[in-house]
Amino acid sequence: MTEEETIYRLAAIRRTYLVGDEAVHALNGVDLTISEREFIAVVGSSGSGKSTLMHVLGFMDSPTDGRMWFEGEEVSNISRVHRAHLRATRIGFIFQAFNLLPKISVLQNVVLPLSYGRKRVADTNELGMQVLRRVGMEHRHMHRPGQLSGGERQRVAIARALINNPRLILADEPTGNLDSKNRDRIMELFTSLLDEGITLAVVTHDTQVAAYAQRHINMQDGCIVEDFRQ
Ligand SMILES: Nc1ncnc2c1ncn2[C@@H]1O[C@H](COP(=O)(O)OP(=O)(O)O)[C@@H](O)[C@H]1O
Ligand SMILES: [Mg+2]
Repeated sequence: MTEEETIYRLAAIRRTYLVGDEAVHALNGVDLTISEREFIAVVGSSGSGKSTLMHVLGFMDSPTDGRMWFEGEEVSNISRVHRAHLRATRIGFIFQAFNLLPKISVLQNVVLPLSYGRKRVADTNELGMQVLRRVGMEHRHMHRPGQLSGGERQRVAIARALINNPRLILADEPTGNLDSKNRDRIMELFTSLLDEGITLAVVTHDTQVAAYAQRHINMQDGCIVEDFRQ
């Protein structure tokens, strides 16, 4: 292994949707290598394929064509069960709309992904409190999501993404519903995760958010048209 371990490699990845008679190439030949501890901002106009790329990277969707390797293992054609397992145990997902369940507590939301993994966790609630502490939300563990501000909800969603100790965190417009103060707080939290060895890919329209990342990927019509480090 080289010093910079490769987490992901994508080669000529395509994702085509059939809409009536028309083929929509959401991803149209994407080549991409992601290394450990990278912080990548994915930018590009609406409809350029950013969310589709996140879904493919996060095993929420499968490519129509092309090959991909995750942590050295080829994952181009793995089974549904295998994909679900990787999704539940190796990847953390953060969405613009937080996607917390409204009727259960913050702590119950955060520990929910543990029930999808195969690993038995001895003290689920203690682990939940640990990740809530990391995002500064432990004092709200009994609250329902609806009782929190947008910034607080997103911090809870990040805690939930961290519960399985993922290698890679994928965030699709994570600050899209936040004001600038909460946005900066979330981005500082992301930056601190890099020091813990986590790799991050964040889709954003916000140049201030992109400025936190060392690497910028620009998408257009399902292709990466620019990829640079700053
Ligand atoms: N489930 C779907 N069915 C049909 N077309 C889709 C579907 N999901 C996305 N697309 C199309 O794929 C393209 C890329 O979408 P998306 O990845 O969501 O773009 P972005 O996140 O950059 O706005 C768009 O043209 C979109 O309409
Ligand atoms: Mg999108």
